[in-house]
Amino acid sequence: MSIRKILCIGAGHVGGPTMAVIADMCPEINVVVVDINPDRLTQWNSGTLPVYEPGLDEVVSRCLGRNLFFEPARPEVIADADMVFVSVNTPTKEYGEGAGMAADLQYWEKSARFIKPHLKDGAIIVEKSTVPVRTAEAISRILHDNRQGRRFPVLSNPEFLAEGAAIRDLMEPDRVLIGCEETEAGRAAAEALAAVYRHWVPPERIVLSSVWSSELAKLTANAFLAQRISSINAISALCDATYADVTEISRAIGTDHRIGSHFLEAGVGFGGSCFRKDILNLSYICQQQGLPEVAAYWKSVVEMNDHQITRFTRNIIAHQFDTVAGKKLAVFGFAFKPGTNDTRDSPAIYVCKKLLEERAHLAITDPRALENAAESLRGLGGEIAIEPDPYRAAEGAHAIVLLTHWQEFRELDYQRIYERMERPASFFDGRNWIDAKLLYELGFNVYRVGRAPLVHY
Ligand code: UDX
Ligand code: ADP
Repeated sequence: MSIRKILCIGAGHVGGPTMAVIADMCPEINVVVVDINPDRLTQWNSGTLPVYEPGLDEVVSRCLGRNLFFEPARPEVIADADMVFVSVNTPTKEYGEGAGMAADLQYWEKSARFIKPHLKDGAIIVEKSTVPVRTAEAISRILHDNRQGRRFPVLSNPEFLAEGAAIRDLMEPDRVLIGCEETEAGRAAAEALAAVYRHWVPPERIVLSSVWSSELAKLTANAFLAQRISSINAISALCDATYADVTEISRAIGTDHRIGSHFLEAGVGFGGSCFRKDILNLSYICQQQGLPEVAAYWKSVVEMNDHQITRFTRNIIAHQFDTVAGKKLAVFGFAFKPGTNDTRDSPAIYVCKKLLEERAHLAITDPRALENAAESLRGLGGEIAIEPDPYRAAEGAHAIVLLTHWQEFRELDYQRIYERMERPASFFDGRNWIDAKLLYELGFNVYRVGRAPLVHY
């Protein structure tokens, strides 16, 4: 089957960029992206996209109105689609059975029920959102529960893109994973999807597996990546106690090709919409399968991350003479990582909450994420100033707390910043990012993660 019309449900961080790249690479395919949130659609159609991703503007502007459309869902558009990607959010469940652990599949199920009456026979459903293992089976049952005998093959095609590098990851993926049912229809559907990707992905990078393996591979990939961060963060705690240097350790072990050098940067902890959610989901699945030891093993990766964030925040308070009440602290960076305006599950949320509980006055600055930062902190009491200018954020502050390693923060004039701060002026570098020696020479006390502090006495 040759795919001419693609529909995507969900115009978020995954659906939007993925569909834009497909439209860009496959000019003969018409791609329509729908969303229940009309504001999202308006933003995609305006010059100011809802998602900040380097290179995304260019890709969207090449295809928008040509073969890429963001619009409300209409029955005719669903009925027209040869292939439907489902890319809705699957957050951690906040209620009932599995609350705080399991994935909340309500948006997924609603999408399936919504498209079902309109789909044409044989339309291929592609599961893009990260979902618990065996979701495709459930979706398949929902879709096939009809009297007309229509069949819709369900594929799993998890997204491995990292925010801030989404366009590069989509254009040059390490692999594209397609999980299909072991039936003729399943294999034909997988081949149709592979043909879409072959427009720009070398065939040897397109990997086929069973649907269940594909679903579990996505959770496993995120669990392994997060586990490396928690492992190096655990070592950073030991380094803080002994004055070994965690960056030297990362370098030393990263050169072992069996270990590799990626995801060994110690810091304030991981954030983002995936790691915590997916590991808790994995852990919950293990628990449900009667594997409590395996569940505990994976959950400990999240627990170590929570510990790291708490440890970092306690360290700030301890070095502010055990009180930050009424003190101005400048928070440099709120996005969960540089290159994005996304603040979902950012360590900054936890650090700021704790500092506000201790009655600190916060001035938060970030090159891209201030709107989302204000949203993430909405409803919290306390003194919070959202300040686009880092120099003003630091003015009169007792300390700077760096939580996102934006390049912009490396390029500031710290002499100027230091002169306008309270004394002693401290710098808490949650990403081991700034030139600590330079700051120390300017007069700052510099505290890092897993590296000896540089302190004036
Ligand atoms: C992740 C996966 O990388 C991606 O494949 C998947 O599709 C979605 O989840 P993302 O959450 O966008 O992507 O960002 P990632 O680059 O993985 O970083 C996640 C968090 O880990 C960030 O907060 C980052 O600062 C932190 N991190 C990363 C570290 O603390 N140390 C590191 O060495 C690497
Ligand atoms: P992700 O990072 O997985 O892409 P986002 O939250 O950025 O998650 O995007 C998910 C999108 O899916 C949101 O824009 C949300 O409005 C949309 N969505 C959720 N449920 C539905 C639905 N039933 N129909 C259409 N869009 C939906």
